[in-house]
Amino acid sequence: MKKKSFVHGIYAGTFDPLTNGHLDIISRAFPLFDKLTVLIAESPTKKPLFSIAQRKEMLELVLKDFSNVCVDFCEGLVVDYALKVKANVLVRGLRPTGDFENEFQMATMNNYLHKEIETLFFMTGHSHYFISSSLIKEVFKHGGDIKDLVPEVVLKQMKNMFQSRG
Ligand code: COA
Repeated sequence: MKKKSFVHGIYAGTFDPLTNGHLDIISRAFPLFDKLTVLIAESPTKKPLFSIAQRKEMLELVLKDFSNVCVDFCEGLVVDYALKVKANVLVRGLRPTGDFENEFQMATMNNYLHKEIETLFFMTGHSHYFISSSLIKEVFKHGGDIKDLVPEVVLKQMKNMFQSRG
């Protein structure tokens, strides 16, 4: 088997919103790839707070200095997108809070759909494993302090969003 000459990774998620947990995974993953695409994808069980355009804008602002990282979104299957853009690896973060079974199932299904796509897991950083986007939104809504858990750009957008909703 030949070694791949160009390694393009895809880090897909809902990113509603991006948290420092996601950012930790991106920061650790991007040096290992020739190109890393952070992909906003739909999760069937989620009703996002931020529109795709808002999430894309936040990601682009936060990731503007990451030279080989780009941001995109897709409506269908992540593996189909990966095949279309000739990406070979899916990147996922793994938290010690029950992620394994679901991640195992998704990685296996994605590999079943397209054999040439592998999933690479990163253990979530020790200061981020308790974070999730839903928890961030819930805590913020009730006045809790989340400033060390999300990028500044995201905190600003959260304030705007909740102020405009009254
Ligand atoms: N640190 C902290 N929190 C993290 C984290 C990290 N490193 N990584 C993920 N999380 C949190 C997220 O904030 C998210 O929180 P939430 O559930 O409160 O929103 C939660 O963990 C799950 O995030 P993630 O693992 O990225 O999954 P997701 O639900 O956001 O995204 C998709 C899942 C979009 C990747 C998946 O549904 C998908 O691939 N959809 C496209 C359609 C498709 O291809 N389906 C077939 C799949 S086999």
